[in-house]
Amino acid sequence: MKLKIDDKVVEAEQGLTILNAANQAGIDIPTLCYHESLTPGGACRLCAVEIRTNGKWNLITACTYPVEPGLEVRTSSEKITEARRLAVELLLAQRPHSDRIWELARKLGIKEPAFVLKQKECILCELCVRTCREAVGAEAITFIAQGKGRYIAEPSVEHSVVKCIGCDSCAYACPTEAITVKDTGDTRTLNTPSGKLEFKLKKCKICGKYWATEKELNYIIEKWHLEPALFETCPDCRE
Ligand code: SF4
Ligand code: FES
Repeated sequence: MKLKIDDKVVEAEQGLTILNAANQAGIDIPTLCYHESLTPGGACRLCAVEIRTNGKWNLITACTYPVEPGLEVRTSSEKITEARRLAVELLLAQRPHSDRIWELARKLGIKEPAFVLKQKECILCELCVRTCREAVGAEAITFIAQGKGRYIAEPSVEHSVVKCIGCDSCAYACPTEAITVKDTGDTRTLNTPSGKLEFKLKKCKICGKYWATEKELNYIIEKWHLEPALFETCPDCRE
């Protein structure tokens, strides 16, 4: 199908989003909570663009909006810059020490936080939730919108002690270092917004290196019906 982005006619397949189509056409749109291998979350609102409907330009998020034939999109305007600046300022107000957020802020000409909010490591982008669910398949992280049961609390993300396998994919995905991982001897410690989790690491039978959590290896063995003996050695010693 054909659509227009910034007055340029762009071809895009059905099922793509405006962000995909713009990227394919070499048009840059800033993102934070988007990852090409995961379903879009639409949480950070940094990818704001405008589409024309009934003659009026309306703000939408490019990472979640599907392409349509004849759609008219613009990726820069005063309203778009204002929306992106507000999105970054809100993030910066909570995480003023995040390099990733500062990188985005500088590109929008922001030199200092406009205001300060209660500082939080987690900006609720849900990248960890989607990574754990879609890339790992463990579904160990849940987005809690309003606290549990009858208690009203701030939204948060919560790691399940039972389901988490300690693979560290969430720490890798997190843009603000709200999840960190540290291996010390035979123990891996995962610091998450909902608390600390500890995992026993497996030792390689040949080189003696601790190389993955036992829980992660058991998960892989069970999921793919593999021989446990395969995991007695680390990938380096297997080659
Ligand atoms: S822990 Fe990190 S990845 Fe997960 S929602 Fe918070 S900021 Fe995003
Ligand atoms: S990248 Fe689109 S809302 Fe975050």
